[in-house]
Amino acid sequence: MADRRPHIVFTQYTQYIAVDVERMEDEDGTPHDMGTVTTLCRCGDSSFKPFCDGTHSSNGFVGTKEDDRVPDEVKEYPGDGITVVDNRGVCSHGGECLKALPGVFDLGKRPWIDVSAATKDVILDAIRLCPSGALSYRLDGGERIQEFGQTRARIVVKKDGPFEVQGGIGLQDDLDNTPECPEHYCLCRCGSSRNKPFCDGQHADAGFQG
Ligand code: SF4
Ligand code: FES
Repeated sequence: MADRRPHIVFTQYTQYIAVDVERMEDEDGTPHDMGTVTTLCRCGDSSFKPFCDGTHSSNGFVGTKEDDRVPDEVKEYPGDGITVVDNRGVCSHGGECLKALPGVFDLGKRPWIDVSAATKDVILDAIRLCPSGALSYRLDGGERIQEFGQTRARIVVKKDGPFEVQGGIGLQDDLDNTPECPEHYCLCRCGSSRNKPFCDGQHADAGFQG
């Protein structure tokens, strides 16, 4: 029997193709119509965003990574009963962690994560807000846990930002890209990320609107 798990397929030259993804919604919960197969813009130039209108085939879009991207590097920040695990290379820079716990997550400090500044449970709540999978954790030296605050399979269309893919929607492409966390990740939809297909926050500098 065919695997009917919702997934997103594409090549470096194509739009995203969402297959069996039943739910896509704006940040305020407004749903978008989804079919069994739905094409989504990743070049940033569609006049029908968040859906594809075919523009990627005429604007020279190629969805590969750039050499100057922030490299994938997993670092660990040990604390009392919890170790925060972070990969700067996949952060989408929405600032969710910074807003939730500015005493723990502060890009103006080095190291930028101070695990001693809050209790374990409060830090866990902040990590569960991380849409990109950059943040995860270990408890008492145990295995790495990558979880998000909600588990429903859906795509959230961030205003002027990425597709936030949640709930274990699979990803298959021709370059063997693998999300840092297969359960939740952020896909670039502005066309400017240096870490395509994943969002790296460049949408803000690029002035992306959509
Ligand atoms: S993607 Fe994660 S690590 Fe990056 S700003 Fe948002 S919550 Fe923080
Ligand atoms: S949507 Fe974030 S870098 Fe493109």
